[in-house]
Amino acid sequence: MTDLAGKHGLIVGVANKRSISWAIAQAAAASGARLALTYPSARLEENVRELAAKLENPLLAPCDVTSDEQMAALAATIDREFGGLDFFVHGAAFAPQPELSNPFVETSREGFRIALDVSAYSLIGLMRAVMPLMEKRGGGSVLTLTFIGSQRVFPNYNVMGVAKAALESSVRYLAADLGPRNIRVNAISAGPIKTLASSGISGFSGFMQICRDRAPLRRNVELSEVADTAVFLLSSASRAITGEIVMVDAGFHVSGGP
Ligand SMILES: NC(=O)c1ccc[n+]([C@@H]2O[C@H](COP(=O)([O-])OP(=O)(O)OC[C@H]3O[C@@H](n4cnc5c(N)ncnc54)[C@H](O)[C@@H]3O)[C@@H](O)[C@H]2O)c1
Repeated sequence: MTDLAGKHGLIVGVANKRSISWAIAQAAAASGARLALTYPSARLEENVRELAAKLENPLLAPCDVTSDEQMAALAATIDREFGGLDFFVHGAAFAPQPELSNPFVETSREGFRIALDVSAYSLIGLMRAVMPLMEKRGGGSVLTLTFIGSQRVFPNYNVMGVAKAALESSVRYLAADLGPRNIRVNAISAGPIKTLASSGISGFSGFMQICRDRAPLRRNVELSEVADTAVFLLSSASRAITGEIVMVDAGFHVSGGP
């Protein structure tokens, strides 16, 4: 039931081999899916191209999620190559460096705009672009990635916490909007993992320590654990689940204290 054989998927958010989206891409490919991967800039194209070469018959396309034109062009390319789309993984997030180290009260209007645009609005914009492709397949599954910093305060997570709150709310509104078209929308809230994005947060290793100390399983999570849950949420095994934020955090979210 977690088989993705014969399915076509879009994965946005692969930067390098430590990216959560790359772990999901590998697991989805191992379950039989054919994938489209994107790169946001010429600078990252080579990285993504090298990783994509490990997949069978991948499709590669540019997509800076701040551009409506690139989102539309991506959907057109996928339509031409795949003739529809069964699932979409959204793993794009960004906030300017000062917003992740300055006191939260210093958050700039521009920093707020960029963080919310790249990390939350992009799910809505991309969803709108690929919706007709999913309708061609009679429905689809969409998955984004969030962090518990949307609900609770973690030092320096700052405007990214606000963006994740907007992202999680968007998951619920999109799920309600698109459910009648048989399109499901969910998020995985992952425990902290060392990646390119997380290394931009000052004191990130402190998050990992807190989770290790307090999570019921007394450890951090691994990329493969997030990826396995992702494949479940992308597959028909989860066909009655939508609008959900699934915690893949070794149970950290239930902890009330040491
Ligand atoms: N690492 C963690 O601890 C953790 C925990 C929970 C949730 N997440 C979330 O997982 C997702 C993936 O992050 P990651 O930790 O794998 O790091 P990552 O740096 O590998 O991935 C972030 C991706 O966002 C992309 N991106 C940034 N700006 C973009 C733009 N304008 N257009 C298109 N793509 C753009 C980057 O190219 C990169 O591929 C993010 O949403 C992140 O917030 C991460």
